[in-house]
Amino acid sequence: TVDDAKHRPAYHFTPPANWLNDPNGVVQWNGRYHLFYQYNPAGPFHDTIHWGHAVSDDLVHWQDEPIALEPDPDGPDSDGCWSGCFVDDDGIPRVMYTGGDGCDQLPCLARAEDNTLRSWRKEPTNPVIEEPPAHIDILTSIDWNAEFRDHCVWRADGDWYQLIGSGIADEGGAALLYRSPDLHEWEYCHPVLTGDWRETGPMWECPELLRFGDDTVLHVSDYSNVWYFLGPYNTESDRLEPRERGILDHGVFYAPQSFTDDDGRTITFGWLKEDRDSTAQWNAGWSGAMSLPRVLSTEAGRLQVDVPSEVTDLRRSHQSFEDVTIHPDESGHLPGVSGDTLEIRATVNAERTGEFGFVLRASPDDQERTVIRVRPQYRELVVDRSASSLDDAPADQNHSMPIRLTEDGKFELRCFLDRSVLELFTADAQCLTSRIYPTREDAVEIDLYAENRPVTVQSLDVWEMGTMRPSTSIKD
Ligand code: FRU
Repeated sequence: TVDDAKHRPAYHFTPPANWLNDPNGVVQWNGRYHLFYQYNPAGPFHDTIHWGHAVSDDLVHWQDEPIALEPDPDGPDSDGCWSGCFVDDDGIPRVMYTGGDGCDQLPCLARAEDNTLRSWRKEPTNPVIEEPPAHIDILTSIDWNAEFRDHCVWRADGDWYQLIGSGIADEGGAALLYRSPDLHEWEYCHPVLTGDWRETGPMWECPELLRFGDDTVLHVSDYSNVWYFLGPYNTESDRLEPRERGILDHGVFYAPQSFTDDDGRTITFGWLKEDRDSTAQWNAGWSGAMSLPRVLSTEAGRLQVDVPSEVTDLRRSHQSFEDVTIHPDESGHLPGVSGDTLEIRATVNAERTGEFGFVLRASPDDQERTVIRVRPQYRELVVDRSASSLDDAPADQNHSMPIRLTEDGKFELRCFLDRSVLELFTADAQCLTSRIYPTREDAVEIDLYAENRPVTVQSLDVWEMGTMRPSTSIKD
């Protein structure tokens, strides 16, 4: 459709049609990558949620598989098969997910029929936990007896553990810890961490605990931000002792989920929410995209975020520039460079400069344009969407993130533009994902700008990117 050509990402995963939200049960199983996701086959809106499924041999080319999990009208998941995680039970592939049944949200277990992970048998004894812990004041809502959902399961010293996302009334979001000998019988322990509702929200969705040597990262989603807490995990008390807290992405990235792949990398996907109204999503026929895979690690006690090398396999034609000086009040610095599915990599001498930046998806008459404003003097980057679209349906407020210069005063940016997706990574591990919806077919021009003072771009690389659909079909 027209919308597909202008807005539907080409190299970010999107559902075949209809609605996508959180990534679920992400895993590399028998060598192949599996991405499950919250999926509504009935339309591009959030309603009765199934688990969609796609497979890949290289993390970047995805092929759709049949729906993996669907709600059972008579089961504890009659309202939806909500978010959950993969469980490697000594070679038996399982998932733990949240069943919603109209008043309760409770953990359910299913087992794959075989290693294709296509069909799943739900445990007849579901839900595996009958009710949330009775003696703590769990947050409730108009619709639900308790906010009690989403799962992260791991094994340690012969026992199983899981985190469930929740909130404690008048305190804040909480990641509740449970223990089990067999994945079926669960005993409640305590929260591994509770937040302050004034700072990190009253409810934590999609908690996930990630180990990096001596450091542990807990991340949670508070309806708008993904917070991470980093520090040692005390195995005596089974609590996280965070040293540092931060935001995983300063834009629309939400409810991420990770797995360790065969190379030992911790790979994370997040849901990139739409940023236009529901009518526009309905008219488009699809909603929601997956982020690019991101590699998380820690270095010197700080969280690092990287783009895996596989993403570079999507690169096609390349244009490269060195020592481009951007003059204030001039335009047309990059003649012959255009496109809406690009990777752009830039290193800029940013010491003692004023504001400068990148203009993307600009129409020739500049009626539509998205501006990445780098403000070294304020240590800030802003995605200015005020002129991104002539249409009123998309959000147009700024997104911003803090930035730092390297020791020799350089600013380094890696930018992935994929039609309506703009995913930015800085050298100091800050990320910002934004969504833009230009209406004009000719809104594909690119430029650089500087305010007040000339700025030198030391190097600039632009690659046209390929598509996430495999060129040949993946073998069974
Ligand atoms: C997060 C979330 C989860 C829930 C799922 C339902 O986006 O609300 O808490 O399990 O989506 O689709």
